[in-house]
Amino acid sequence: MTCAKVIGTGHCVPERVVTNHDLARMMDTSDEWIVERTGIRERRWITPGTTLDDLAAGASRMALQDAGIEAGELDLIICATLNPDCFFPGNGVLLQHALGARTVGAMDLRNQCTGFVYGVATAAAHIKAGFARTVLVVGTEIHSTSMDLTDRGRDIAVLFGDGAGAAVLRATGDQGEGRSDVLASVLHSQGEFARELWCELPSGSQPGRITAEQIAEGRHYPLMNGRAVYTHAVRRFCEAIREVLEAGGVAKQDVKLVIPHQANLRITEAVTKRFDLAPEQVFSNIQRYGNTTAASIPIALSEASREGRLARGDLLVLVAFGSGFTWGANLIRW
Ligand code: UT7
Repeated sequence: MTCAKVIGTGHCVPERVVTNHDLARMMDTSDEWIVERTGIRERRWITPGTTLDDLAAGASRMALQDAGIEAGELDLIICATLNPDCFFPGNGVLLQHALGARTVGAMDLRNQCTGFVYGVATAAAHIKAGFARTVLVVGTEIHSTSMDLTDRGRDIAVLFGDGAGAAVLRATGDQGEGRSDVLASVLHSQGEFARELWCELPSGSQPGRITAEQIAEGRHYPLMNGRAVYTHAVRRFCEAIREVLEAGGVAKQDVKLVIPHQANLRITEAVTKRFDLAPEQVFSNIQRYGNTTAASIPIALSEASREGRLARGDLLVLVAFGSGFTWGANLIRW
């Protein structure tokens, strides 16, 4: 049976560090409030001139180098983002060009914070079906340009940051118990909650897409019902972990590391407690990057791998919840 092995990871974050104290100079907020409610201490923001594609290409090159392969060996590119550089075409094709890849398929995934989990599931399915041998999965986001940096937008503005992460998956014919593979994936959506965390405008179904009046009203900024997102997130994170472990026939004590989407340290801690995981079984870097939506899991994966938190044969769970609502998980043998 063909297995889908993660052979390389990478990440790329802007150099500009924005602390909670920096934000407190822009809007009515404080370091205490942000740390207590979210665990975030700082995040990265781009400087003008950096594109989403630059971040994606930076993370991808690092992942390709880590894998020891050239961009020309890729058979498929999967790019997850909720902040594309332009309305169309999608960022996957820009990344294909930036990397100098062959004219292979470049797929865009619009599954917000769950985008990377959807991407790994899609990559593994392509590999196992024999459609592709080597697949690049990228999560890339620029939030800093989209946020309302006045008091009106403070609930969102303190949470999100910019960055990109990537992983290369390759087909192997490895045999035996401890073989590296994506063992199982579970994916979910519930569109009835689309408006609990969304960016309404510009809209493809509105003539002219957006008006000056709507911009003045701030309807082009992301909107979130933080309480609703929080409650659903904790529940769905736990369900997705349970479901993917069942699908893979694995017990939770055998999992070496859970990398949750970095939404809020309180959400991660609630899931850790409710699921009775040991603190060392769960990875967090939200303190330094904030919530980078589709990029958060691959950035964390790249850091965890470089910190020596994963050895070949270890069991790893990636789990996410976000706008849509969408949620899901991958069970990976590293
Ligand atoms: O990837 C998924 C993305 N989203 C999430 O994961 C978000 C999930 N939700 C959350 O993490 C939390 O709901 C928040 C961190 C966003 C908010 O925490 P909360 O404990 O639910 O606070 P709240 O929204 O109930 O607001 C409490 C107070 C309010 O003031 P009043 O009405 O009590 O006077 C807010 O106006 O905190 C105020 N507030 C702020 N104060 C200082 C809201 N944002 C801020 C802020 N700084 N940035």
